[in-house]
Amino acid sequence: MPDTIAFVLNGQPVTAAGVSPAMTLLDWLRGPARLTGTKEGCAEGDCGACTVALEQPPAAGGRSCEPANACLLMMGQVHGRAVRTVEGLRDAGGTPHPVQRALADGDGTQCGYCTPGIIMSMYAFAAGGEPPEAALIHDALAGNLCRCTGYRPIVEAMARVAQQPDAPLASMVERPPAGAAAWQDGATRFDSPTTLDALLALRRDFPDAWLLAGGTDLGLRVSHDRDVPAHVVHVARVPELQMASVARERLRIGAALTYAGLLPYLADSLAPFGAMVRRLGSRQIRALGTIGGNLGTASPIGDTLPVLLALDATIHVRSAARGPRAVASDAFFLGYRRTALAADDIIEAIDIKVPQPGEVFHVDKVSKRRDQDISAVLGAYRLRIEDGVVRSARLAFGGMAATPARARQAEAALIGQPWGDGAIDRAAAALARDFQPLDDWRGSAAYRLAVAGNLLRRLYWRTTRPDAVLEVDQL
Ligand SMILES: Cc1cc2nc3c(=O)[nH]c(=O)nc-3n(C[C@H](O)[C@H](O)[C@H](O)COP(=O)(O)OP(=O)(O)OC[C@H]3O[C@@H](n4cnc5c(N)ncnc54)[C@H](O)[C@@H]3O)c2cc1C
Ligand code: FES
Ligand code: FES
Repeated sequence: MPDTIAFVLNGQPVTAAGVSPAMTLLDWLRGPARLTGTKEGCAEGDCGACTVALEQPPAAGGRSCEPANACLLMMGQVHGRAVRTVEGLRDAGGTPHPVQRALADGDGTQCGYCTPGIIMSMYAFAAGGEPPEAALIHDALAGNLCRCTGYRPIVEAMARVAQQPDAPLASMVERPPAGAAAWQDGATRFDSPTTLDALLALRRDFPDAWLLAGGTDLGLRVSHDRDVPAHVVHVARVPELQMASVARERLRIGAALTYAGLLPYLADSLAPFGAMVRRLGSRQIRALGTIGGNLGTASPIGDTLPVLLALDATIHVRSAARGPRAVASDAFFLGYRRTALAADDIIEAIDIKVPQPGEVFHVDKVSKRRDQDISAVLGAYRLRIEDGVVRSARLAFGGMAATPARARQAEAALIGQPWGDGAIDRAAAALARDFQPLDDWRGSAAYRLAVAGNLLRRLYWRTTRPDAVLEVDQL
C-alpha cells in the first residue's frame, strides 16, 4: 500500500505523507500544510468558510472548477484531484487575483472570517464563465454565510468578475495522478478502487467498512462527530458509477455521479427535477453529493427520493456474490433509514423513466429557506391525464412518514376521475389515510398534512391556471 496521498495543490503536485486518509482536507490545510487561509466555521458543510476549488485540467472537459467544502472532504478523497485554496490565487509577483481585487475594492469584507470562502466561491463562479445574472450569483453564494458585511457588496463584486477572461487559473492545473490507491495510516485503512470488480471485492471482503461516495452525509461523522473510521471504501473513482446516459424514455444515472454532474441531464421534461436539485444544499454540496448517497442514507427527508418514486425509478444494485439485480424504487425503502441493500451490495446506477409528452410532472420542495435547507415536505408527482380524466398517477412525498413514500390512497382517489376540484379535494383528504407525518421542529404533523394537500391543489392549478401559481424562483 502506498503511504502518501498525491494531488495537485494550487497548481503544484504535492504529497501528504504520514497523515490519516480520513483526516479532513480542512485539518490538513490548516495543520501540516500551514495554509490557514481556509477557515473552519461550522465543520458540517453549512457556512462555506472552508470553501476550496476542485479544478479540472482543461482537457478533462466540463466546468473548469467547482467549489467544495474542505471540512467534508477526507484526504483519501482528494488523491488524484486538483485543489486550489485562497493562497493559490495571487500571481507569482504577488498581485491579487481579480476576484480578490473586486471584493476589496467593493468593500465586500469586514471581519474577514468568511472572506476566503467567499473568494473561492467567486473564483469558481468566474472560472465557470457564467453570466452576471442575479439568480446565478445568489445560487453561487448560497453556500457561504457572512455574519457582518451584508451581501449587497459581495453580490456586486461577484457581478463584476463574472466572465472575466483572466479569472480562471485552471490552465495552470497539472494533471493529477490516476490509478487505484489504498492507504493504511494509524487507525484507518482507506481504499480507492478504480474498477467495479475491485470495488465489489472490497465490499464483499469488508462489509463493515464505510462505503463513501461524496461524503456530504458520512463526512460529518469525521468533521463534526470526530469519529475515526477503521476502514473506508471510496466508490467515486469507479467509471461505471460516474456515468450518465440518456435513451428516449430512460435516463441512467451512475450512483456516484455528483449532483453538479447530473444537472445538465435534468432538462426539458425533467426540468422540475433539475430545479429541485438546484435547491439541494449549496454548490459546494452539489459538487460532492450523489444520488447513490441520498439512497444509501435513505432519510425520510432525502430530497431526490420522492422524485425517484414518482418517476418509477429502478435501482441497479450489484454484489460480488450475487451479481447485478434491479430493485424497483417502490421496494427499496423498508423502514426508517432501512433499505433493500444487503451488507455486500453497492448501488451501481439508477434508471428513471423520463416523462413523455402529455404527462404532468412536477416537484415541490417546502423548506424554511429557499437555499441550503432541508425539506419539511417534498412532493413529486407524475400523472397522465387524457380527455380530462386521470389515467395514471404516482404521487410521492418526503417528510410525511418514516420513509419517503407514495400516497397510494390519494393516487386511488384520482385515477379514473375527472381532473377537477372534486378529485383533488378527495385526494388531499386521502393523504390523512396515507400518512401519519413526522412531528418535529421543522413542522408539526398537522402542518405537513395541510402542506401536502395544498401542494396537490397547487399541482391542479399549475395545469389549469398556471398564471395563478408562483414558482419558488419567482417569489
Ligand atoms: C450542508 C448540507 C446540506 C445538505 N442539504 C441537503 C438537501 O437539501 N437535501 C438532501 O436530500 N440532502 C441534503 N444533504 C445531505 C447529503 O448531501 C445528501 O444525502 C447526499 O445525496 C449524500 O450523498 P454523498 O455522495 O455525499 O453520500 P455519502 O455521505 O458518501 O454516503 C451516504 C450514505 O450512502 C451510502 N452510499 C454512498 N454511495 C453508495 C453506493 N454507491 N452504494 C451503496 N451505498 C452508498 C454510504 O455508505 C452512506 O451510508 C445535505 C448535507 C449537508 C452537509
Ligand atoms: S466549516 Fe462550515 S462549511 Fe466547512
Ligand atoms: S466579513 Fe465578517 S463574517 Fe463576513
